Order: sequence, then structure tokens, then C-alpha cells
Amino acid sequence: MRAANQLVGMTLGELAKHVAPGVSTLQLDKIAEEFIRDHGAVPAFLGYSGYPNSICTSVNEQVVHGIPSSKNILKEGDVISIDCGTVLNGFVGDSAYTYCVGEVAPEVKKLLATTKESLYEGIKQAVVGKRIGDIGNAVQTYCEARGYSVVRELVGHGIGKRMHEEPEVPNYGRRGCGPLLKSGMCICIEPMINMGSKNVVFEKDGWTVRTKDRKCAAHFEHCIAIRPEGPEILSSFKFLEEVLGNNAI
Ligand code: MF3
Ligand code: CO
Repeated sequence: MRAANQLVGMTLGELAKHVAPGVSTLQLDKIAEEFIRDHGAVPAFLGYSGYPNSICTSVNEQVVHGIPSSKNILKEGDVISIDCGTVLNGFVGDSAYTYCVGEVAPEVKKLLATTKESLYEGIKQAVVGKRIGDIGNAVQTYCEARGYSVVRELVGHGIGKRMHEEPEVPNYGRRGCGPLLKSGMCICIEPMINMGSKNVVFEKDGWTVRTKDRKCAAHFEHCIAIRPEGPEILSSFKFLEEVLGNNAI
């Protein structure tokens, strides 16, 4: 699980070199697919429930599951969530990061920073003996206190030999409620947070989810293992942070 997720982290790092104005989301998809295959793995998303590409690229008001396209060209001031998955030696890695394209409005940067911080608030709760609701409650409380809203229609998930396993990991919930967290569980925590209302629309392409009010959304995802000593983050933003340097959120 660690190896598959580290490779996702490395792929997000490779993509960080290419996120820039003028680049199409399909170019990013090709870079990711080649990088993953060059490292002896297979893109986990490609063909999953018929998904046509290797990564999800969700720009601005798109929340998740944006389909890469040659027509979707990044421009200065955009933000793009890149969600990436690999299968390596039979195990699945899954992680996502929202990147800035050039200079981004301060209020959008704040949304991104808060969403990323809420991911780590959720991870802190991923300890033996706590419950799934403790994770969701931590994410929700953190984001709502700062004026943002939590998407309800999509959730994090257990992960292992398959990308989506039990339990569901909502980004909202009640403390002390839901399935018990046990040592050895691997879960993906992935806050999807909106600047405006929590409502989303499912586009006719069958995949893309966007905010109803077309205001900006952010999405960060880590895959973690629940261990006796505490949560271990299996995926990594280290590689992309090395590329982005001080420009990282
Ligand atoms: N990372 C996404 C998730 O956590 C998976 C993308 S769905 C796919 O659910 F179909 F594109 F694979
Ligand atoms: Co996921």
C-alpha cells in the first residue's frame, strides 16, 4: 500500500512541473499515464466503471471527476484538482491535490489552504478506537467555521486490493458515530469543500461533478493506514511540494 501510494505522490510531483497556463488537461493525463507505467504500475482509474482516463482533472467550479480533454486549456488564475490512482503489485494508491495555475486570487488560495488543513484535521482523528464520524466531524467543523461548505454527495472510502472498499468516509458527521476504526485499516480521506453552497450538479458527461452556484471548489486526498502508533500517511505531497517550493499552498 505504501509503495502504490508513494508512486501516486511521485506522479503528483511530476505533474506539478507541468501545471501552467496553456497546458491542456489531456496533456497532464498523458504525462501521468506514461509516468505510472514507466514505474511498473497501472493507472487505477483507467477503465474503472468505464472511466476513460488515468487521472481526474477538475478545474475551478468542478469539484471532482473532471475528464481530461484537449479542449480544456489551463489559464492564469485557475485552480485544478488532480486526482490520481495507481495499482502496484496488486495494491491501490489514491491521492489528490489542488494546484494553482500561476497567480490565484487570495480568497481562492484561502479555500485551498483551509481544505488542505481540514484533511490533516481529519487524519488526526484516524486512530484506533475512534469512529468514522470523528473524522468527518473534524473536517466539517474546521471548514464550516471558516465559512465554507462540505459536499455531501461524494465521500472518502476504504482502500486496499480494490480502490473503493468499506467503509465510506464522509467529510461530515457526528463525533462518536459510525464504524469503529481498527488497526490495519487503510482509508482515503478526501475533503471536497466549496466556497459557496454545498450543492453540486452531475454533468451529462456521466462523470464531472461541479458546484451548483459555479463558485470554486477544492479537493485534497491522502491515503492513510490506521496503525497502533497512530495514522500513517501512505501517500505524499512531498514530491509536488519540492517542485512548487514556496508556491505550494
Ligand atoms: N479518487 C477517486 C475516488 O476517490 C477515484 C476517481 S473515480 C474514477 O473516488 F472513476 F475516475 F476512477
Ligand atoms: Co479516493
